[in-house]
Amino acid sequence: MKIRKAVFPVAGMGTRFLPATKSIPKEMLPIVDKPLIQYAVEEALNSGIEQIVFVTGKRKTALEDHFDFDFELEDMLQGKYKKDILESIKRVVPETGTIIYTRQNVPLGLGHAIWCARDIVGHEPFAVILADDLIRADKPVLSQMMDVYEEYQASIVAVMEVAPEETDKYGIIDSEKVGERVSRIRGLVEKPDPQDAPSNMAIIGRYILEPEVFNFLGKKKFGAGGEIQLTDAMEMLLKEKKIMGYNFEGKRFDCGDKAGFQMANIEYAMDRKDIRDRLKPFLEEILTLCKS
Ligand code: G1P
Repeated sequence: MKIRKAVFPVAGMGTRFLPATKSIPKEMLPIVDKPLIQYAVEEALNSGIEQIVFVTGKRKTALEDHFDFDFELEDMLQGKYKKDILESIKRVVPETGTIIYTRQNVPLGLGHAIWCARDIVGHEPFAVILADDLIRADKPVLSQMMDVYEEYQASIVAVMEVAPEETDKYGIIDSEKVGERVSRIRGLVEKPDPQDAPSNMAIIGRYILEPEVFNFLGKKKFGAGGEIQLTDAMEMLLKEKKIMGYNFEGKRFDCGDKAGFQMANIEYAMDRKDIRDRLKPFLEEILTLCKS
């Protein structure tokens, strides 16, 4: 079955980036000149997703505006500025009707946010993208995962190795390798302490989920951090259905973290010829200063 829908949980408060996120959704923070959420939406659309589902919340209307036409702005840019600026504005807006918004009106965690989309998703496999996890890859990670889904016809979670002392920042899997990049998951646990972690393979924010996961999300079991965790629902789903881990090809930036966010900005800026020529000597100068 084709994966047509992608759910984007975007209701989070973004407390780690306060005060920047006091009135701006964290998903609108830019990597160079494009907000994080736009990278995520483009990844989905470039992977063949037809319907974008935003699970949004209070103080997030900037997201809706970002993906909408802005006639005044377009009119103002027309003829005045370079054509590519106008084009970059126009490109942001997906075809009318592609985005559906629903609200998570109580902050009960990632699992609860996904559950809020249950009736929009219906009974079909769907994708989940966490915009905080920005992944630079030749082939979009979601598209890589769709290939794995084709082959295994099971839920797929993106995973990567992390430092053993960092397991308490992630969902961690216990798994058995079945292919070069694919493993069959035996268990999942949300944010275990390093001494309790079954491995150091961490879940990264890309999922393809079978709709049965909603049955378990609906149980509203509170887990790590007092929140309803997607990882816990998948652990329950595992009793009925196969779940595979996919060690994706690409470089992931943790943009929910201040250092990771800066790293992404530097790497994406260095990719742009217009910026690199001035940024590179500056970075070299800073590094020399740091050494002395
Ligand atoms: C969420 C998930 C976690 C996953 C992580 C990836 O955690 O709950 O399982 O490893 O995203 O970024 P959060 O970062 O929202 O605390």
